[in-house]
Amino acid sequence: MFDRVEMAAPDPILGLTEAFLADPNPDKINLGAGVYKDATGKTPVLKVVKLAERRILESEASKGYLPITGSAEYAAAVQGLLFGDEYDALAPRSATAHTPGGTGALRVVGDFLHRQFPQATLWLSQPTWPNHPKVFEAAGVPTKAYAYFDAEKNVVDFDAMLSALQQVPEGDVVLLHGCCHNPTGADPSDEAWTQIAEVLASRGVLPLLDFAYQGFAEGIREDAVGLRALTSACPELIVCSSFSKNFGLYRERVGALTLIAAEPDAAARAFSQLKTTIRTNYSNPPSHGGAIVSTVLGDADLRTAWEVELAEMRDRINQMRGALVEGLAAQGVTRDFSFIRQQRGMFSFSGLSPEQVDRLREEHSIYAVRSGRINVAGITEGNIERLCKGIAAVL
Ligand code: LMR
Repeated sequence: MFDRVEMAAPDPILGLTEAFLADPNPDKINLGAGVYKDATGKTPVLKVVKLAERRILESEASKGYLPITGSAEYAAAVQGLLFGDEYDALAPRSATAHTPGGTGALRVVGDFLHRQFPQATLWLSQPTWPNHPKVFEAAGVPTKAYAYFDAEKNVVDFDAMLSALQQVPEGDVVLLHGCCHNPTGADPSDEAWTQIAEVLASRGVLPLLDFAYQGFAEGIREDAVGLRALTSACPELIVCSSFSKNFGLYRERVGALTLIAAEPDAAARAFSQLKTTIRTNYSNPPSHGGAIVSTVLGDADLRTAWEVELAEMRDRINQMRGALVEGLAAQGVTRDFSFIRQQRGMFSFSGLSPEQVDRLREEHSIYAVRSGRINVAGITEGNIERLCKGIAAVL
């Protein structure tokens, strides 16, 4: 039977890591997958994570299964981070499941939507993370695109976005990026978020917030401005969040699905269906990464230390944004790349064409996503000159 199976195309993002690892060039540069690297080009384990792991190693008393939706401590920690001051108001009509990464949360949502709301279409920003349409199509949820980005000005095309959202039919679902829009790095302003939330509420559309980069734009509370706009305007909401980036827990697969309903009883019923979805998918989540997060967020000193390390990551990325703009100018590039300084989060949507990205890979062993997305966190003092020379050569 397997003889008849066709080869699948490599993943547009994680496939780049595979190609990068196979490249023998010692000067190769990987700006593909969204993984933070420090000034030495390593993806570090945060110091606060090591501290929490020592505590867990000492205190862990069992390897028995976690509940289907993970531990209560983890759920409370996730909601505390998401809701901040609104925790007391929102927690009674919310429920959180620990999922294997943010992607796991999205897939559980896809299965839930397909089963409970088979008529619903999911609307995705144009452009979006390339895995979004695939995850939902795999779950049987039809997707459509809404206008999002002004590629000339490198900002959110807010008028086009709002008028597209005004056309979304009642009962459909709209996926929004909580902050650090992937791939563009262009987020709606605070006022724009208020208007987006009001439009979705007035149309009876369910917002689905993909919140994978909390803390990478400005800070934990600042980056939740979109979430707060949605929770104050919309009675129902789903949030898929992740600790891959802000805790550096990529391979531990630590994410969360948080559902907010109009009242506690509806939250309990919807959550019971999510539990069924999880049970028939991966049964229950792995423990270790969630225990790290609950340990850190449940301890005032560790939480402070975490926020310091998070700010260090954010600051280094922003420094590299400036260095990239200056480095390109130093190579004689005349095209205006100053917009790279304004983009938020890990990525720069560089404006390079797919052909230019291909040439970067083939001729310079520099790996980026074909959409032109560059992982700024992969730039270091050690590789920036080579990178800027490579970009200058393919422009
Ligand atoms: C990315 O967009 O590079 C990350 O979210 C990693 C991934 O899973 O694609």
